[in-house]
Amino acid sequence: MASLFSNSSWSVSSIPNLASKVFLVTGGTAGIGFGITANLLAHNAERVYMLSEQPQHGHLAKEELAKYGDASKVEYINCDLRDLKQVEKTAKDLRDKLSRLDALVCNAGIGVGKYGVSKDGIDTHFQINHLAQMHLILQLLPLIEKTAEEHEDARIVVQSSSLHSMAPSSTKFETLDEINKDIGPSYLYNRSKLAQILFIREFVQRLKDRKLGTSGGKNIFANATHPGAVNTTQPDQGEEAYGLLGKVIGSTVRPFMKDPIKEGCLSSLFAATSPDIKKEGITGQYITPPSKVTEPSKQAQSQELIDNLWALSEKLLKEKLA
Ligand SMILES: NC(=O)c1ccc[n+]([C@@H]2O[C@H](COP(=O)([O-])OP(=O)(O)OC[C@H]3O[C@@H](n4cnc5c(N)ncnc54)[C@H](OP(=O)(O)O)[C@@H]3O)[C@@H](O)[C@H]2O)c1
Repeated sequence: MASLFSNSSWSVSSIPNLASKVFLVTGGTAGIGFGITANLLAHNAERVYMLSEQPQHGHLAKEELAKYGDASKVEYINCDLRDLKQVEKTAKDLRDKLSRLDALVCNAGIGVGKYGVSKDGIDTHFQINHLAQMHLILQLLPLIEKTAEEHEDARIVVQSSSLHSMAPSSTKFETLDEINKDIGPSYLYNRSKLAQILFIREFVQRLKDRKLGTSGGKNIFANATHPGAVNTTQPDQGEEAYGLLGKVIGSTVRPFMKDPIKEGCLSSLFAATSPDIKKEGITGQYITPPSKVTEPSKQAQSQELIDNLWALSEKLLKEKLA
């Protein structure tokens, strides 16, 4: 494991020149994801793909991105993570089309909000925030391994949250019935963020053990991040779910939240672009702003939860994509 690396002065100006590099940012059209896309573009990325469900957000983002660089280098991909078959098709199209993918940033997500069910019959928090993006990562692994082999560095980032530490203590990740129980807006979100950290830890271990891919994980650096409390539209979902109380809390904390373009994107951009990640061998870790390798909660280190989550996720992907 990497020593607990930290560089508190890491900022958008620390992003290296990204010439020739290709990126995919899920949720790259809005909020923190837009901040990530804009900074990648501003640092000369060869190509940035931004994936989201609402095409109009893609159009708006492209217009706005012209402020940061040559927006023709950014391409919009429409895919609803509520639908695993769409995710599968999107990944296949990308595998066919791209010859390299230097970083896959799985940032898309829904926030603290009401319970919903996906097209695949799964709690939307679990599916959008974890399962669909796990599938995207696994489907794009051959392309990522090829990039790591040919260019000696490839990154995977999953955008988690410090709220992973407030998942219910009863979480087991054993059955779909457990996942599909409405445990309330905060617990649904927090549990999905816990799943993302458990996933990335096991993903890295499986790469090393050659249970996944063929490279033993050589030159692949996969980490989970927390962006901080960031001023995006996501807190609106919590305000809506909790009514008047949500609105009062929302309007109290909003002035203290980070700007998504200057600050909210830092930990994920550090994980996706910083040479320190490779130099320090940072992989399978949890990174908090701006670039601090941090110990996640005890639950996020539980081998029992890792094993259960992996088994359940694999089972669901197999069943739903059959
Ligand atoms: N904001 C915070 O304070 C905070 C704190 C901790 C962690 N995070 C995490 O950071 C990430 C980004 O949050 P944010 O605040 O930037 O949220 P946001 O402004 O609401 O943006 C969310 C992005 O995810 C996309 N997305 C949502 N549902 C999708 C679906 N079904 N299929 C495809 N794309 C979908 C959205 O696309 P459309 O616009 O097309 O729907 C949008 O681009 C999330 O994973 C969130 O949990 C945020």
